[in-house]
Amino acid sequence: MKVLINPNSNPTQASTRDQYLSAPGFGKYYTDHMVVAKWNEKTGWSDATLQPYGPLSLDPATMVFHYGQEIFEGMKAYIQPDGGISLFRPEANAKRFARSAARMALPEMPVDFFLATIEALVKQDKDWVPKKVGESLYIRPFLIATEVGLGVRPSNEATYLLIATPAAAYFNAANAVTVWISTEYVRAAQGGTGEAKCGGNYAASLVAQQQAAKQGCDQVVWLDAKERFWVEEMGGMNLYFVKGTGKSAKIITPKLTGTLLPGITRDSILTLASDLGYSVEEKMISIDDWKNGVQSGEISETFACGTAAVVSAIGAAKSNAGTWVTGDGKPGPITNEIRQQLLGIQHGQIADKHGWNKRVI
Ligand code: PLP
Ligand code: COI
Repeated sequence: MKVLINPNSNPTQASTRDQYLSAPGFGKYYTDHMVVAKWNEKTGWSDATLQPYGPLSLDPATMVFHYGQEIFEGMKAYIQPDGGISLFRPEANAKRFARSAARMALPEMPVDFFLATIEALVKQDKDWVPKKVGESLYIRPFLIATEVGLGVRPSNEATYLLIATPAAAYFNAANAVTVWISTEYVRAAQGGTGEAKCGGNYAASLVAQQQAAKQGCDQVVWLDAKERFWVEEMGGMNLYFVKGTGKSAKIITPKLTGTLLPGITRDSILTLASDLGYSVEEKMISIDDWKNGVQSGEISETFACGTAAVVSAIGAAKSNAGTWVTGDGKPGPITNEIRQQLLGIQHGQIADKHGWNKRVI
């Protein structure tokens, strides 16, 4: 499969694009192109086409509208010191996209084909990559069930789409986010879709997000479905807890039990924190461990991590069991160090010892 190039003959004017890039926000503006590829049960994947960004025309009975058979990914392209552009561990996104597809009975896209579409879009829309460290081009591949029909069964047609949006920080790095720990709603149960990056997981989370907002919190933290006791992850981010301070600190993240999304940032921080000399551990952490650890002072920092949010400190955590605030409620030194280290590697300012960056230009 190839990526055919059909450039936009009427792209955004440079002055308008520069204005967008001066305050990109998140998901506010889209680049001049998108990529489309189709899959059919009988003929497999078509070539992909890079074409002008624009609306889709779909029959109202298209399956994705009814039963939500959809998956997506999120990754970023980062400006490099020499003006080049790199992706961060894109093969990991490609593999997760294939695993999500398998769980949702959608076709798996070959890793090389997926990567070729990403590279084609980034190359074509390279001028949309923000130039500041901490800003990037957020890339959103997704796959939808496009057979027309209302029978409940796996679609025999699917459409892959790829779009990109310049992105500033998802949260203000100087502030800590506040979280609402939901005991009423759950995100994922064993055997469910928690490990897949499917739209349905996010649709089901929104009512809890509304509750969090009513409680004055920015985000929801999910507990396990069975005991409502084990801390899993946040709305769109994995979690980390720092026990102790200085170089003897231990950095802990909830173990992947089959219900959490295996974050690429989470995985990278396990390695990066160990490179920085911290001991790291993946283990089950209960809501009591969190609360008691913060109250005794043993837990000195808590942070969330993900592609969109990078590394964001968590200040106050609120739940039916009370409210507790980690440290002074501001981003702590280890959170800041890990954030700087990760951004430094992604932006080519710190040596990429593990070969994570994939140069596109
Ligand atoms: N958890 C959820 C539910 C997410 O949506 C995301 C975002 O992709 C993450 C964790 C973090 O994953 P990653 O670091 O691969 O972006
Ligand atoms: C990401 O970090 O890519 C996410 O998926 C988080 C959110 C924007 C859904």
